[in-house]
Amino acid sequence: MEFMDVIQTRHSVRNFIDKPIPQDVLNDILEAGRSAPSAQNRQEWRFLVIQDKKRIESLSINSGLIGLSNMYIRKAPLIIVACAETKKSIKLNKQEYYLVDVAIAFQQMMLTAWSYGVGSCWLGAYSEEKVKKHLNLPKSFRVVGMSPFGYPAEEKTHYTKALSKFAGSDKRLDLDKIVKYDEWK
Ligand SMILES: Cc1cc2nc3c(=O)[nH]c(=O)nc-3n(C[C@H](O)[C@H](O)[C@H](O)COP(=O)(O)O)c2cc1C
Repeated sequence: MEFMDVIQTRHSVRNFIDKPIPQDVLNDILEAGRSAPSAQNRQEWRFLVIQDKKRIESLSINSGLIGLSNMYIRKAPLIIVACAETKKSIKLNKQEYYLVDVAIAFQQMMLTAWSYGVGSCWLGAYSEEKVKKHLNLPKSFRVVGMSPFGYPAEEKTHYTKALSKFAGSDKRLDLDKIVKYDEWK
């Protein structure tokens, strides 16, 4: 796929077919994260790859912010939890840079995945406390995001349809709403 096609056709995928991701594709996805830029090259990202079906099932039940809200990750062949080792992070302009660094790396991974036809969906609605406990993550880690990865099922779930409608997922603000030149006026 051409680079702009990858960017423009990527969309959140929440329903997957039962097909594993080949190890060489997974390696490229992880390599894309490893290659990302980070503030002072601190590379504070840490990625937990979950492939065990029982663990994925139990994470889908035990990670929710509200009840069972993460059931949609249940069918994914693989989940990646994107964490930050906060001991390695730097604060600039009162901003914790691990958020920026891990987000860049994770998005690079999602785009690389999509270039292989592997879908993903950034998941922010989780209880960090529950996730950390469930996955035995070190105290100094923050969970910045997580995502299922897998080959998309043709059929969209009711959850996806509802969420896409609620979020207006196919809409983006026009450039003139978000870009100005030379000065903000
Ligand atoms: C930081 C972040 C958190 C998100 N959290 C969730 C989530 O908890 N559950 C979910 O179904 N989608 C989640 N999404 C997906 C967004 O709803 C989706 O990216 C947006 O509606 C645009 O749709 P698209 O990804 O299909 O282009 C999240 C996306 C981002 C970037």
